[in-house]
Amino acid sequence: MTNPFVFNGYEGAASFFDREDELALLMKCVSSKINVTLIAQRRMGKTGLIFRLMDELINSGRQVTPIYVDIFATRDLADLNKCIANAIVQTFPAESNGWKKIMDLLKGLRPLFGIDPLTGSPQVLLSYQNETEKEHTLEGLLQFLEQQKTPVLLAIDEFQQIREYPENNVEALLRTYIQRLHNVCFIFCGSKKHMMVDIFSNPQRPFFSSTQFIGLQAIPEEKYMGHIRRMFLEGEKQIEDDAVKYILDWTKRHTYYTQRLCHDVYDIEKECVDTDDVRSCCDTLLKLNEPYFLQYKRLLTDGQWNYMIALAKEEEVTQPYANAFLKKYNIGATAVARRQLQTLIEKDLVFEETTLDYSYYRVSDLFMLRWLARKY
Ligand SMILES: Nc1ncnc2c1ncn2[C@@H]1O[C@H](COP(=O)(O)OP(=O)(O)O)[C@@H](O)[C@H]1O
Ligand SMILES: [Mg+2]
Repeated sequence: MTNPFVFNGYEGAASFFDREDELALLMKCVSSKINVTLIAQRRMGKTGLIFRLMDELINSGRQVTPIYVDIFATRDLADLNKCIANAIVQTFPAESNGWKKIMDLLKGLRPLFGIDPLTGSPQVLLSYQNETEKEHTLEGLLQFLEQQKTPVLLAIDEFQQIREYPENNVEALLRTYIQRLHNVCFIFCGSKKHMMVDIFSNPQRPFFSSTQFIGLQAIPEEKYMGHIRRMFLEGEKQIEDDAVKYILDWTKRHTYYTQRLCHDVYDIEKECVDTDDVRSCCDTLLKLNEPYFLQYKRLLTDGQWNYMIALAKEEEVTQPYANAFLKKYNIGATAVARRQLQTLIEKDLVFEETTLDYSYYRVSDLFMLRWLARKY
């Protein structure tokens, strides 16, 4: 029996749990050609959900061609073009509608065609272009998608990356081009919440009010409990209810961490797994990750590290500048705390979560949070 708890990428609908409502909403948006902004904390399951959606679109026989690009590693508009061009070349057969046009477009831009030595798939390399050429290329690529007989879904993962480009008009360009498209709909996916929210809801910025927001919260406790119990039962394994509860509390139902711990607990060879077994699994996981956590200690100032410890010990902090909190952990003045917290958020080591009632700050990496709270 293979381990049913996947934590490393999407491995098909069978091992992807829940997210039924979000999936239904996404399907509806795609059908109505409504652009979507998908925002949630890192490792909550955004990318997995996009792949789940693409599966569903294909399996349900919808007349939609899904395309996925991850722009995390792109540094500028030229990279973005390359990324989209590669996805196009790999998605559409050479005889498809408008292919000649796109080849002409690309040819005019002195591309090199090749084969990716790692994956063996076709690849486009665009040589040097001036700014106008780059903008035309982006427009041309989107126009190519527009001309397809079947509607296209273009999912752009790690979208906040466009904020890092030296060209500061990419947001505006995209907005302009996208407005002219009727046959292409988009999913903009990202986790740096401040940036994503700013791109999409700041009236001064071009994407204002143009998309449907979808967020991902933790999967509800009852549901996740039922799922874990079921997986163990199906594998003819036993686990005590308290142990399942412990897993969900310890990982705060943050999907990647819950899946990771479940995976390891599932592999325990024992008649019936109890809470102590889970605890020792947690210890092993933290020990395994220790060298990685210690790297951060070297990268951060003593003050920042101390602030991380303070946040970790409190688990969630609603008032990060409150006197009592600053005093308790020897953080110093409010201005110092403000700077430290800002840096930690920029480095993605801490995130701010806003719920209906309040907002709080938390160490992003749940395992690191547990490790810091225990070690110091
Ligand atoms: N609904 C789910 N069911 C099962 N595993 C999931 C689910 N959502 C996420 N995961 C697991 O957690 C990992 C992290 O999710 P991912 O989609 O990469 O998060 P994000 O894109 O939000 O950072 C995935 O590799 C996947 O294995
Ligand atoms: Mg992702």
